[in-house]
This record gives sequence, C-alpha cells and structure tokens, in this order.
Amino acid sequence: MTENTIHAVEATGNGLKDIVVVTKSAPPKPGPGEVTVDLLVVTINPADLLMLEGRYGVRPPAPFIPGSEGVGRISAVGEDVALKVGDIVMPMPGNTWVEQITLPGRHVVPLAATVDLDQAAMLKANPATALVMLEDIIPMQAGDWVIMNAANSAVGQNVVKVGHALGLRVACVVRRAAAAQALRDLGAEVVIVDDGTGAALLLPGGAKARLGLDAIGGAATERLAACVADGGTVVNYGLLSGESPRLSAHDLVFRGLTLRGFWLASWFAKAGPSRIKQVYGQLVTWLDEGRIGAKVDARYPIGKAAEAVAHAAREGRDGKVLMTTRFYTG
Ligand SMILES: NC(=O)c1ccc[n+]([C@@H]2O[C@H](COP(=O)([O-])OP(=O)(O)OC[C@H]3O[C@@H](n4cnc5c(N)ncnc54)[C@H](OP(=O)(O)O)[C@@H]3O)[C@@H](O)[C@H]2O)c1
Repeated sequence: MTENTIHAVEATGNGLKDIVVVTKSAPPKPGPGEVTVDLLVVTINPADLLMLEGRYGVRPPAPFIPGSEGVGRISAVGEDVALKVGDIVMPMPGNTWVEQITLPGRHVVPLAATVDLDQAAMLKANPATALVMLEDIIPMQAGDWVIMNAANSAVGQNVVKVGHALGLRVACVVRRAAAAQALRDLGAEVVIVDDGTGAALLLPGGAKARLGLDAIGGAATERLAACVADGGTVVNYGLLSGESPRLSAHDLVFRGLTLRGFWLASWFAKAGPSRIKQVYGQLVTWLDEGRIGAKVDARYPIGKAAEAVAHAAREGRDGKVLMTTRFYTG
C-alpha cells in the first residue's frame, strides 16, 4: 500500500461471498468545487446484502463497489470549496466500501469534529428512513400510535427515538424475547414478541395505530395490520422475509387500509432539495444531541469485508456491522 493506492471492496457476482478486496489507484486530486474524503467508517446494511445478491431495486454491472453509507475526513480540497482539510463529513453518494473518494463538495454533509463516528456512519439511511416515514407519508399527530415489526433493527431503534421526539406512541414487534428490553429502555411504550404463529397482535386497551411500518412482508404484514385502525396506512419498506407484503381483501375493502411502499431512494428523487436539507439538518442536530442512533454489534477492518458481510447476514445480531479503513484511528 502506497500513498497512491487505496483498498476497495468489489462485488464480482450474485452472492454474499462474491466480494474481493482490491488495491486501486487513489482517486484524482480534487478539482474546482471538489473534495477528497478519506473514509473512516462504513456500514453494512440489509440493502447492501440485497444488492450483493442481485435482489435490490437497482443493480450496477459487476464489478462494482458496494456500500451506501459512511463517514470520512476531508484530506484535500479544490478551489472554491467552503470546506477544509480535516473536516468530518458524510458523503451522500453511495459506493462507500472504499478508502478514499473525490466528489463535489456539495455532495457531502459537514458534521461536528466531535461527532460519534459510528453513529455518523449510520446516519444517511436508517435515521432518515425513520424520520421521513413518520413525517412524510400521512399526517401524524402527537399521541397517535405507530406500530412496526423487525423493530430491533437500526430503522426500528430510530423510529422509537424519532417517534419519541415527535410525541408519537410507538409499539414494537420483534421476533425474539431477548431484543425486547432494549427497545423498552429506548422508550418504546409497547413491545410485542411475535414468532408469527400465535394469536393476532393487540395493542393495550384495543388501541389502534394510524400507521404500520412493515420491513418483513408476507404474513407479517397482515399480522401488523391487525393493529392498524380502519382507514389507516401500512407501509412496506423492507423485504426481510423475501416475500411480498400482503393484506387480506377484508383489510383492504371493508377496513379501508392502504398498503403502500416506501423507498428512500425514491424519496430523494421526489422530495426536493429544501426538504432533503431540512431532514438532514434535523438529523445532524439530533445526532449531536445523542437523540438518534443505533447499536453496533461489530467492527471489522475493510480488508476483512468477507467476514464482515457474513456477520451482517447472521440472525440475532445485537446491532449493525461496520467496517473501518486504514484512516480510522479509533
Ligand atoms: N425502503 C427503504 O428506503 C429502506 C431504508 C432503510 C432500511 N430499509 C429496510 O429496513 C429494514 C431494516 O434495516 P436495518 O438496516 O435497520 O436492519 P438491521 O439493523 O440490519 O437489522 C435487521 C433486523 O431485521 C430482523 N429480521 C431479519 N430477518 C427477519 C425476518 N425474516 N423476520 C423478522 N425480523 C427479521 C433482525 O432481527 P433479529 O435481531 O431477530 O435477527 C434485525 O432486527 C431492512 O429490510 C432494510 O432493507 C429500507
């Protein structure tokens, strides 16, 4: 490894094992308006696993550099850039499983020098998904219930925290009892442990949620819908079971539920620059205040990407799997 070379992870096929760590030329020096960012910490999300398996909404031709999130430090700036060397930033574009990138300065979000790097690396996708699903899908009022499954996920932890900040009542569904207490400790008012086979789910006092957030699909969508009020909305945003979400005709026709999808990438395309700026401005403030975030289960050097990906694909993790680069000093 020299100053002119960097490591990157490349996806080469259609499986979780089809990744290699390669040595590449360092990116070009930044031109006018550009910055070079030394990535420090990058994340492995379920979307990255789907992308590696060729099951995501978009798929670049192989070989490609995976990764959608990370945090880094600016190591060089071009002319006409308000940022400076040493600034900690979150790059907005993907292909982050790499040690260094050069990109337009307007495509990074500046963060505090003292920011928690793990949490900063996890900021772009899951906290934004939580906030946007709670604010931009249906008008929610303080005191309304929202219910979600796979609630011990990073999105789920952030829905609990963001929901709390917005004055919502949050009910969580998890598939293992061991995951329940941590969500209660975060502020979830109700945590239901459901292996998908028992009686219909119920909220206390027969309460009903206005919004149901489903990351699983299949029968899990229908089970969640039992707790959603007539006329309410169920949003599918994840494919964790590999099955399409389904609601009964009874739910759709007689109870007037709406089933719709959410994809952050589509939201980016439609929301407009001022809403995007507002959402990330709010998230950066909450990050600085320690009001959002998710647990980390493990950190691997990027050179051990294969082990890191295998770990990220395992059930029962206690948080996100992250990768660090040679620029990360702890
Ligand atoms: N649509 C969007 O724009 C968008 C944006 C961000 C995330 N997402 C989706 O949101 C979901 C959560 O992402 P994340 O990064 O927050 O996840 P994460 O932190 O990596 O956690 C994954 C969670 O899913 C649970 N899980 C996995 N398979 C399951 C199954 N078959 N049934 C029930 N639970 C299951 C795991 O439970 P255990 O702990 O019990 O193993 C774990 O809690 C993913 O589907 C992801 O693709 C979508």
